[in-house]
Amino acid sequence: MSTDLRTPKSILVTGGAGFIGSAFIRLLFRDKSFTGRVTNLDALTYAGNLENLAGHVDESRYTFVKADLRDMKAVEAAVEAHAIDCIVHFAAESHVDRSIHGPRDFIETNVLGTFNLLEAVRARPAIHFHHVSTDEVYGSLGDTGLFTESTPYDPRSPYSSSKAASDHLVSAYHHTYGLSTTLSNCSNNYGPHHFPEKLIPLMILNCFEGKPLPIYGDGGNVRDWLYVDDHAEAVWLVVRRGRSGQSYNVGGKCEKKNVEVVHALIDTVARLTQRPRADFEKLITYVKDRPGHDRRYAIDCSKIERELGWAPRHDFTRGLADTVRWYLDNPKWIANVKSGAYRTWLDQNYAGR
Ligand code: NAD
Ligand code: DAU
Repeated sequence: MSTDLRTPKSILVTGGAGFIGSAFIRLLFRDKSFTGRVTNLDALTYAGNLENLAGHVDESRYTFVKADLRDMKAVEAAVEAHAIDCIVHFAAESHVDRSIHGPRDFIETNVLGTFNLLEAVRARPAIHFHHVSTDEVYGSLGDTGLFTESTPYDPRSPYSSSKAASDHLVSAYHHTYGLSTTLSNCSNNYGPHHFPEKLIPLMILNCFEGKPLPIYGDGGNVRDWLYVDDHAEAVWLVVRRGRSGQSYNVGGKCEKKNVEVVHALIDTVARLTQRPRADFEKLITYVKDRPGHDRRYAIDCSKIERELGWAPRHDFTRGLADTVRWYLDNPKWIANVKSGAYRTWLDQNYAGR
């Protein structure tokens, strides 16, 4: 196992109120070897929720800054005020379906927002910049093969193309200005605190409420599922030990067709609620496919395994059970999230499918 190249003392986490960013902040405050400060910069869009951090941070070492990455002055002010020496950049518009309905926010937040952060780092080159990205930048696979770090970029949705653009900016700032940067490209995450517009939490909540389980197209699209805490551990390793200028693929080694995911979820929900499977099976509804729907993603994560000693620790059965249990135990979180913008958006977009 390699040793630390960096020991950050004041980390700016962007998007720390979201699904993965909050898992990363919870990990930082569980890690006894990290004694530094965390500044969480988040605009609190529909996807940001400070409840995700309640009770999980040491307030004496934590600051929340409500700011929008598109506002360069606000970004500069946060970096300056907290003597930041490392930025871990999660904030993004993250949902593919939303990017199809309205791409502008994706370009502005994911491209311009990343550019603003990189400009702040260019003015303060002692800062290390870690960029959290996605496997979707590599495009869509056929029945065989895996994405490696050298797979050519071929993004195919407004979301993935905005992430690809931001990845290229990170690489350009490393090569042109000599910034210290690392990048990780991860497969589909799942776990607690996941906003219920994405496949797994949407299906869980719809099972609880007896609502249709909408499967796009023929349900044969494949994703490589990774438990969110495993991803947070990978990011923390890359931040400390990843070689500057390098990218690392992160995946769950857990390829599943969507229809298999839905059946596995039904098994889990039925077992944990002690209800018959048939109650949930009857909710499965095949709906119109997502435009440009990528068929298959699968990650070769041998580089991060070999160089940094990372491996996913949760298998899918345990990860799903932990996830469903969390949603069963947190009705207040669900009620609060649903009282916000998400329900309206879902109702508009899934009505009539
Ligand atoms: P999320 O949508 O749950 O959270 C995004 C967070 O960013 C929210 O807290 C939101 O308020 C904040 N944000 C959005 N726009 C902002 C802006 N303009 N200024 C400041 N804050 C803003 O997203 P997530 O699923 O946690 O994803 C985090 C990162 O990981 C993203 O960069 C995403 O592309 C990447 N990623 C996600 C997955 C996945 O499966 N969810 C997989 C691979 C990579
Ligand atoms: O691969 C990493 C990416 O994974 C991240 O970069 C994105 O931020 C994240 O949202 C996720 O993108 P996907 O489009 O793969 O995730 P989503 O949960 O939206 O969909 C997963 C699969 O399930 C996909 O094939 C579409 C399908 N789907 C999704 C929803 C919401 C359905 O069949 N029905 C649904 O209702």
